[in-house]
Amino acid sequence: MTMEDSRFVLDPATRDLHGDDDLLRKLGPLVPVTAEGVPAWAATRYATLLAVLTHPDLSREIRYWDPAQRAASPPGTAIDRIVTDTSMLNAEGEEHRRLRAPLTAAFTPRRLKSLRPRIEQVTAELIDRLAEMPPDQPVDMRKEFAYPLPRDVISYMIGIPPRHQERLHELTDAVAQVGGGPEDSPGLRGDLHVLLGQIIEERRRTPGQDLITDLIELRERDGERLSNDELFATIELLFIAGHVTTVNLITNAIGALVNAPGQVELLRSGRCPYSAAVEETLRWDSPIAYFPMRYATRDVEIDGVRVEEGEPVLACFASAGRDPEQYGEDAHVFDMTRQPVNHLSFGHGPHFCLGAPLARLEAEVALSALFEAFPRIAPAAAPDEPAPLDTLLGNSTRTMPVLLGPRAGR
Ligand code: HEM
Repeated sequence: MTMEDSRFVLDPATRDLHGDDDLLRKLGPLVPVTAEGVPAWAATRYATLLAVLTHPDLSREIRYWDPAQRAASPPGTAIDRIVTDTSMLNAEGEEHRRLRAPLTAAFTPRRLKSLRPRIEQVTAELIDRLAEMPPDQPVDMRKEFAYPLPRDVISYMIGIPPRHQERLHELTDAVAQVGGGPEDSPGLRGDLHVLLGQIIEERRRTPGQDLITDLIELRERDGERLSNDELFATIELLFIAGHVTTVNLITNAIGALVNAPGQVELLRSGRCPYSAAVEETLRWDSPIAYFPMRYATRDVEIDGVRVEEGEPVLACFASAGRDPEQYGEDAHVFDMTRQPVNHLSFGHGPHFCLGAPLARLEAEVALSALFEAFPRIAPAAAPDEPAPLDTLLGNSTRTMPVLLGPRAGR
């Protein structure tokens, strides 16, 4: 992090996100920062973030953003993409309910139960592929395991025909700026729009049991419920939100477990369930670092700091997860026996993550299969060696090298 005009400039390429966050938390509940050229208030402490996520005078609707600040904000950044998204993410009240309600059915426990065999099957195939690799050579778990699983599951759930999956992933990775791929550009966004249009048209002609089919039916039954643009924006949001963050969660959990002494043993002995590994990872190494933006709809005071009408507030999820005021002086320690592991990493209030039950299920299935198949799995690099993602939004590393060791019972 650097300083500029008494603001901390958040660094997407920082090698010490948690160190930066420790500093921000010490500076106050809301700290003036610049994120991708946008001045904002960073909500870094757990209690402050909780207040921000549910505050009646903070809104995700972009119309509340101070017009001069908005005009001065750079286009084409990851933040710009999120704040201009026209899905439920940036709607409030009745409008938010209208956009979110058609999707809630897809995430009920019953629907998720029916998805479980697919998640288990894809995981088992990935484990078989891993077992074919030389057990004493480093394997990148992000690339070979954490990435393909959520990507397959969300594609299946949404109804992306297999032959379009590769290209769609390339384009959404670039647009979401997850790091390491091609840069976002207006040309790529145009290509993404064309491809989504093609996919929606295919589903219209050959309906399936998937989210795109559900949304098309809703639109044809009741055009008022969802405009064409909203249909596109919703599918794009689900696709990006539905895998990028879960990839980070699985990657970070593997990193935490192979590096923290004694933790894998707690899982193997049954003292801690795999869900504890998932929840503690969400707290300790939140898949989202910083998430834009909520705007003050009038002058407000939050935890003693005055936020003026039109000013944006940035949610610092990774920072809140390490707040000593909430978790004690050992907040920086990965400890699955911590009780209870409450965290804000899926948000809170009306915008609480729609896909949280799916992400939890995928991560649990993935981690239990991996650690049971490879009991001697070990890190192949020091914890601080793999490069960070180079994005303000996501918190993870570009690679997660491990030595798998022999497969159990074979
Ligand atoms: C570990 C994985 C995930 C994490 C950490 C995560 C985190 C979050 C957070 C923090 C928010 C709230 C943002 C805010 O209030 O400003 C959110 C919203 C959302 N998430 Fe997730 N998410 C994950 C996985 C998923 C998945 C798998 C899906 C879909 C399949 C999904 C879909 C959404 C949607 C649609 C919203 C917007 C909800 C609304 O505005 O009402 N997420 N997520």
